[in-house]
Formats: sequence, structure tokens, C-alpha cells
Amino acid sequence: MGTLLVTGASGFLGAELCLRAAAAGWDVVGTYLTRTPGRVDATRLDVRDAGAVASVVAGARPAAVVHTAYRQEGDAAAAVNVDGAAHVASAARAAGARLVHLSTDVVFGGDRGRPLREDDPPDPMTAYGETKARAEAAVGREHPDAVLVRTSLLYRGPGRELSKHEQLAVEAARGERDVRFFDDEVRSPAQVGDVAAAILELIDVDVRGPLHVAGADPLTRLEFARLAAAAHGEDPARLAAGSRPAGRPGDCALDCSRAAALLRTRLRGAREVLGG
Ligand SMILES: NC(=O)c1ccc[n+]([C@@H]2O[C@H](COP(=O)([O-])OP(=O)(O)OC[C@H]3O[C@@H](n4cnc5c(N)ncnc54)[C@H](OP(=O)(O)O)[C@@H]3O)[C@@H](O)[C@H]2O)c1
Repeated sequence: MGTLLVTGASGFLGAELCLRAAAAGWDVVGTYLTRTPGRVDATRLDVRDAGAVASVVAGARPAAVVHTAYRQEGDAAAAVNVDGAAHVASAARAAGARLVHLSTDVVFGGDRGRPLREDDPPDPMTAYGETKARAEAAVGREHPDAVLVRTSLLYRGPGRELSKHEQLAVEAARGERDVRFFDDEVRSPAQVGDVAAAILELIDVDVRGPLHVAGADPLTRLEFARLAAAAHGEDPARLAAGSRPAGRPGDCALDCSRAAALLRTRLRGAREVLGG
């Protein structure tokens, strides 16, 4: 199978990918910035450093690269998300490696009255969404055969360590956090193992450009938080509803029918996974 290089191996999705890839027989090389990941052969790499990216990728001689590393906010977000993605894409192409680049549903402003398709033009409303839309364009230029996986809120589900989105719901239900969950913002929450399995499968699928890989159930932030709280043994009725502030996208549900037709991996809806 050869070597798989995963950027962001210390991250939520990256760690899941490394575990699954190793179990599937890949020689996995992970990269991290500040947190050394356990259970994977890992190298420190700042994706903003083009020379370092070129050297790590060339040294690993990967058959495939999955680029998950990113920053959601802060001054460094554009340099990490846009320049970093371009550096990884350029190095992957130079190495002759398949590239799966991770993107997000919030490259869209949403609210088209139907789930968003791959051929809808990105129209981000947030600074984060804008960096990820620019990253997609940069990756497309540097590595035209790359697949750009757009996913949505990632969670693990019952019996497993809480993701940040699950943690928020559980702490709010316990009264430890004062949060209002938006009942007017729709996303397609996705189980992290399903997304990781789909990404590994995509390495060998002949597809390029954007691909929507997210959960089957469109849910408001409130509906998802209630499902997550209940799945982790908390009372969902304790969660408070609120409206999203101006400047946030509304309905960003993704139409994942193309991925469903291409992949054996089933992208389950949160109701099925969380038992709602
Ligand atoms: N989580 C979600 O709900 C969600 C939803 C939609 C799309 N996505 C997409 O999925 C991908 C993975 O998200 P995630 O939640 O798994 O990420 P995460 O847990 O926040 O991890 C981010 C990773 O990026 C690394 N990183 C940050 N700055 C870096 C830099 N300058 N150079 C190299 N590495 C750097 C971090 O390294 P250290 O921790 O070692 O510093 C960490 O491994 C992202 O591309 C994101 O856009 C995620």
C-alpha cells in the first residue's frame, strides 16, 4: 500500500485517520505542530514553511497525502489554511502523490433552499470559510487532480471520548456552560470514523475537485446538540435555543449523493449514530 502522509495527525480527524490507515496496512507518517501525537510515526511540521513542507513530503515519498491541518481562527489562519494548503498541494504533486484536501461546508453562505451541491460556487460569509474557499482554489491550481473533501461538524458518538461539539452540548446540559444553540443554522454532522473511512477509500477512487462527504441528516445546531447530549446520558430538554448572529451562514446542508454513489463507506446521519 505504501506510505500515507497525514498533516494534522495530532488533530481530531487526523488522529482517527492515522489509526484507521495503520490498521488498513498503510505505513503512516503524521505531522503535527504543537502536540506530539501518540501511536504514530510523527514529524513536526509548520505548513506555512514551504521549504519544510517540500522536504518532509519528498523525504516520506508518500503514495498519498491527506491534508487536514488548519487553523479555525486567529491571525495565522490565512497563512496556515491558504498558503499551507498550497505548499502541501505543490509538494504532493511534485512527489506524484494522490492528495485528499480537507475543506468545509462553510465555504458556502448557505440558504439556497436546497442542499448544497459540488457545482454550487463557494460564497463564504465567515473569515474561516473564506480562507477555506481560497485554500480550495489554491489546491486546485497546485494539484489539479486533488479531491477537495467538504465535510461538516465532526463528532464521535456514544461510548467514545467527546469531540468539541459533543463536549459543548454535554456541558450545557449539565449547566456548566451558558450556551444558546442556534435553531436557524443547519449543518450535516458527520461521524468522524465514517469520514475517515471515506477519505481512505477516496485515495483509490478516480475523482477530483470538490466532493461533499458529510452525514445524511441535515440538523439545526440545536437538534444536533440535543441528540449529542442525550447520547451521552444528559437531558436534552435542558439545552436552550437561540438565533444565530448576523454574519453566520444559515442552511449549509450538503448534498452528499455524489459521494454516496462513489463510495462503499456509508455516511450515516446523526440520528442513526446518536440514536435520536
Ligand atoms: N472539526 C470539524 O467539525 C470540522 C468541520 C468541517 C471541516 N473540518 C475540516 O477538517 C479538517 C480537520 O479538522 P479537525 O477538527 O480534525 O482539526 P483540529 O482537531 O483542530 O486539528 C488541527 C490540526 O492542524 C494542526 N496545525 C495547526 N496549525 C498548523 C500549522 N501551522 N502547521 C501544521 N499543522 C498545523 C494542528 O497541530 P497541533 O495540534 O499539533 O498544533 C492539528 O493537528 C480541517 O481542515 C477542517 O477545516 C472540520
